Amino acid sequence: MSLKCIQLTEGQLLGYLSIIRRSFQAVAKEYNLPEENCLASGSFIKMDQLLTDFRRGVRMYGCLYEGTAAGYMQLELTEPGRFTLDKLAVLPEFRRQGIGTQMVNHAIDLARTHGGIELTIALFANDDRLIQWYTNHGFVHTGVVNRPGIPFPIAHMALDLHGPSR
Ligand SMILES: CC(C)(COP(=O)(O)OP(=O)(O)OC[C@H]1O[C@@H](n2cnc3c(N)ncnc32)[C@H](O)[C@@H]1OP(=O)(O)O)[C@@H](O)C(=O)NCCC(=O)NCCS
Repeated sequence: MSLKCIQLTEGQLLGYLSIIRRSFQAVAKEYNLPEENCLASGSFIKMDQLLTDFRRGVRMYGCLYEGTAAGYMQLELTEPGRFTLDKLAVLPEFRRQGIGTQMVNHAIDLARTHGGIELTIALFANDDRLIQWYTNHGFVHTGVVNRPGIPFPIAHMALDLHGPSR
């Protein structure tokens, strides 16, 4: 399978906006997330939020499957040594063929290459399937929090980038 993840330039972001929104659409529906209540959800993300994140140093990646844009993810250095993986998403028509797994592995490699010690993610605490998926990739559950504007608890997971399994 030929998958290539490229770090996006500011000029490429607009092309990925609809990919992020479409990839998260089912999540918004499943959780019945209203736009005004959940600015963090990828399904409602606006160009200005993407640009703001880009300009404050968030690294954004487009993933191309056989040359066609199929997924998106972003990595942010949130504390020295700690990267956060966010908005990892694969378009529905490209799912369940290992693209998401390759993207997670690529994110792990990128975080490690840039000196990361830990890679963290935040996701809906009741999404058992997704939690299991990240567990299969070596992440461990580190806690649950409630965030303003998000009507569901958020689970935090982390991966030790230099742990015995890596
Ligand atoms: C989670 C996601 C990135 C997986 O992408 P993918 O390319 O299908 O991943 P893989 O092919 O490597 O793995 C498939 C596995 O993902 C797991 N999975 C997790 N969440 C899933 C979902 N919402 N739908 C389908 N499979 C899901 C299943 O275990 C599936 O295994 P199966 O095919 O045996 O059922 C993709 O489903 C997605 O974009 N979901 C919506 C956005 C999202 O929730 N992102 C996570 C933000 S933290």
